Amino acid sequence: MAKPNPFTPKSGWEPHVFVGREKEIEFFKKKLAEAIRGRCDHFLILGDWGIGKTALLKEFKKIAQENKYLTSLISIGQYKEGSPFIDGVKELIEQISLKLPINIAKLKAFTKKMNMLGIQILGSGFQFSKRVESMNPQPFLLTALSDIWRDLQSKTEVIVVLLDDVQHFSPISGIFTILKNVLSDEEIVKKTKFLFILSCTPAEWMQFLRKHHPIGRYFTPRLSLKQLSKEETLRVINEILLDSGVTFDPVIKERVFEYTGGHPYELQLLCSNLYDNQIGGKVTEEVWKVSLQETLNSLGEILFDSLYEEASPKERELLCIMARYIKPLSSKEVTSKLRKHMPEFPFSNTGTYLNRLVSKGLLKKRGRGIFSLPDRMFKEYILLRVE
Ligand SMILES: Nc1ncnc2c1ncn2[C@@H]1O[C@H](COP(=O)(O)OP(=O)(O)OP(=O)(O)O)[C@@H](O)[C@H]1O
Ligand SMILES: [Mg+2]
Repeated sequence: MAKPNPFTPKSGWEPHVFVGREKEIEFFKKKLAEAIRGRCDHFLILGDWGIGKTALLKEFKKIAQENKYLTSLISIGQYKEGSPFIDGVKELIEQISLKLPINIAKLKAFTKKMNMLGIQILGSGFQFSKRVESMNPQPFLLTALSDIWRDLQSKTEVIVVLLDDVQHFSPISGIFTILKNVLSDEEIVKKTKFLFILSCTPAEWMQFLRKHHPIGRYFTPRLSLKQLSKEETLRVINEILLDSGVTFDPVIKERVFEYTGGHPYELQLLCSNLYDNQIGGKVTEEVWKVSLQETLNSLGEILFDSLYEEASPKERELLCIMARYIKPLSSKEVTSKLRKHMPEFPFSNTGTYLNRLVSKGLLKKRGRGIFSLPDRMFKEYILLRVE
């Protein structure tokens, strides 16, 4: 009998089988070893939606804790425009300490300092007094990190802090300068061992760099997460299906890669739908179409609908042309296809329309003057909408 669906079609859900990312894991282990020797080279993971940032950070946490290194994994919350930096610093201090796998009430130096500053540490969170609002965020963060280290240095050789989704700091992006200043302060560099690893979406990180150049030099190296390879994609499917009571036809597995290009979120979602549609424990050609449609509907709800809404009616006509052809197209080729299929289109402006679609994230530039849709699933989504 088929077991409950073993796929994880939700952002942030830990995959039942974690595949690939060997280079990133090696890199992490190297940086851990360096940090233990006293050189903390904080680094950054860049990756678009659903590419596996959170899953990788969870893997880092597991590895660090297997080695008995204390680790705190935090998902940064959303901020409003105009929020003060102290709000971000409060979140950092509260979350870093609460997410450590220890009883923080036992952190004597830290608790004492917090109490002196008017902060009560409760089991579920901190209670900040009004006084905290007027505190200078930089020394506050520095003091808190120093005291956390003082309390814990006998228990761990390094404290790993994993900050997931730092793009949420966007309305208070100046906080990166505070973080950089604190982490490069002598007090922290010489007397503590914290290794910070940040995850962010590439477009938002570029914006931060434009506003605050020096943070780019500080939070390097950067690792860019890519889709899984074909071999890795097949391994995800095969290993997750092991002992599930369900099998996928080899043609279906191949097609999952063809359609998702090894994008972890897309492949988990598609496989989850295929699994739910199994007949007698088998997933064959018969259930492909309905599973793909369900997947496109979900991708529409979570992302594609809002992306597509960004396009004007004329831009949508152009997207539709791009979706009908598998290959990336040059501006000239797009114009000639438009002439054939949409004779009313203002051809002289094709270049402008193409560039506008790139800046909206609806098209990708693949080299000079060559354009394609960002993703095969998006192409299928457009075709479904215009059918
Ligand atoms: N290396 C991997 N092997 C197998 N499955 C993975 C892997 N990485 C991620 N996944 C799966 O892919 C999906 C998306 O992963 P994850 O949530 O980590 O992405 P993300 O980049 O953090 O996404 P978001 O931008 O939404 O925060 C999850 O279902 C996860 O279980
Ligand atoms: Mg995530």
